[in-house]
Amino acid sequence: MALQALLSKFEVHPSTFQGIIEDIHRQMEDGLAGRPSSLKMIPSYADAATGREEGKFLALDFGGTNLRIVMVHLHDGKIVDKIISSNNRLNEKTPLGADLFRQVAAHIVKFLDDHHLKPAAGEPALPLGFTFSFPVNQTSISSGTLIYWTKEFIASGVEGNDVVALLRTALHEVGLDQSINVVALVNDTVGTMAAHSFEHPETAMGVIMGTGTNACYRESISQIPKLHNPPAGKSHTIINMEWGNYDHMPATEMDELLFTHTGQPALMRFEKMTSGRYMGLLMREVITKCIADGVLFPALPQGAGWVFDPESRFDAMWMDRILTDRAPYPVTRGYLLQCAGRPADDNVFLDANHLEFLLYLSRAILSRSARFAGLMVAAVVARLYRQAPTRAMVVAVDGSVFHKSPGYDTLMQETVTQALHAADGSGVGAAVIAATAVAHQ
Ligand code: BG6
Ligand code: GLC
Repeated sequence: MALQALLSKFEVHPSTFQGIIEDIHRQMEDGLAGRPSSLKMIPSYADAATGREEGKFLALDFGGTNLRIVMVHLHDGKIVDKIISSNNRLNEKTPLGADLFRQVAAHIVKFLDDHHLKPAAGEPALPLGFTFSFPVNQTSISSGTLIYWTKEFIASGVEGNDVVALLRTALHEVGLDQSINVVALVNDTVGTMAAHSFEHPETAMGVIMGTGTNACYRESISQIPKLHNPPAGKSHTIINMEWGNYDHMPATEMDELLFTHTGQPALMRFEKMTSGRYMGLLMREVITKCIADGVLFPALPQGAGWVFDPESRFDAMWMDRILTDRAPYPVTRGYLLQCAGRPADDNVFLDANHLEFLLYLSRAILSRSARFAGLMVAAVVARLYRQAPTRAMVVAVDGSVFHKSPGYDTLMQETVTQALHAADGSGVGAAVIAATAVAHQ
């Protein structure tokens, strides 16, 4: 019974939709006006792709599960060749920024060598688009300073500094400064939107539901009072919302516990409630609390402590595996033994009903994430619809949580429709959520 009550704390009630959407709208307005707001609403210098880009480009993607390096060859509005390297890991606990960027440069060297892509002497440098998936104050299309680290990165010497300059220094150290020309700095949401706009010009938003979460959308420049020097000749610009920092989604006491165990507890509350970097940690918080309260596995031997490991990145993957586990729940059992630091063949008694509860808990945490994400999308779409009611809207979504969690996309889409109805009561149900075509690795 106590367990059932606990699950219900993760339900999202449609009766709350309207109030939350109104609050998001207020915070968007405040952010756009430069007033205090949990939504930073950062103007980006990028605009959507035109479909007329030509030639070979490198893309460096830093801030998701893996560091990705991609070479694309665009011709006649089409991708004619593409090479992806995505099994590169960065150590998020690297203490020094310069060392972190050295790791990045080393991966680029290997990529160019492996695929014989380094331009020969006299050949033009390869243009590189740098997707840096953190909050950045853009100072130009190819420069910007990191506002603060998110997703538990900690390296010193990066916050407040130009991340393109740091990348260029690291490329110089490995002798690549003549071979690579960093031409653009973009947030991953902006990259997702641009990639999708390439084929679907009506794309209205880019959303990431992955290691972190965030969105961008096209805003009319007349609606951005804080933009004192708007780009000449443009009516719109893309706004990076940094919605991971939104602070008014209803949080449970287990969320509050999680916040205190993360870097910068007061920041990125929405991200910590919904994204892949944190959902597994939230699950651990719930399990730890339930065991301490004696409502879960009361027969566990005294002293079977549960290790809370803030370093672990693999928990969200466990959640997906637990979702497909069936009686007698060997995967769930293995997960718990691992959390408790016990050998996999330990024959400690774990009640099957309680193991099954963890399946419901995984589902509850993931469902809440999908519902909250849908609610956020609906808030932005409702604003855009009020500005231009007739436009067809496509929302490009990428990220491992969206792609890999069973049923996530359907629930998110359902919530968008439901919440749009709550927001306007009219037929704004035109939003379409489209997964980006890029194979997610
Ligand atoms: C990728 C995008 O597909 O998704 C990245 O190319 C983005 O730019 C990433 O950061 C987010 O996914 P995850 O789950 O790896 O954080
Ligand atoms: C974090 C970053 C944000 C990024 C998101 C998704 O929220 O702050 O910039 O877009 O993760 O990767």
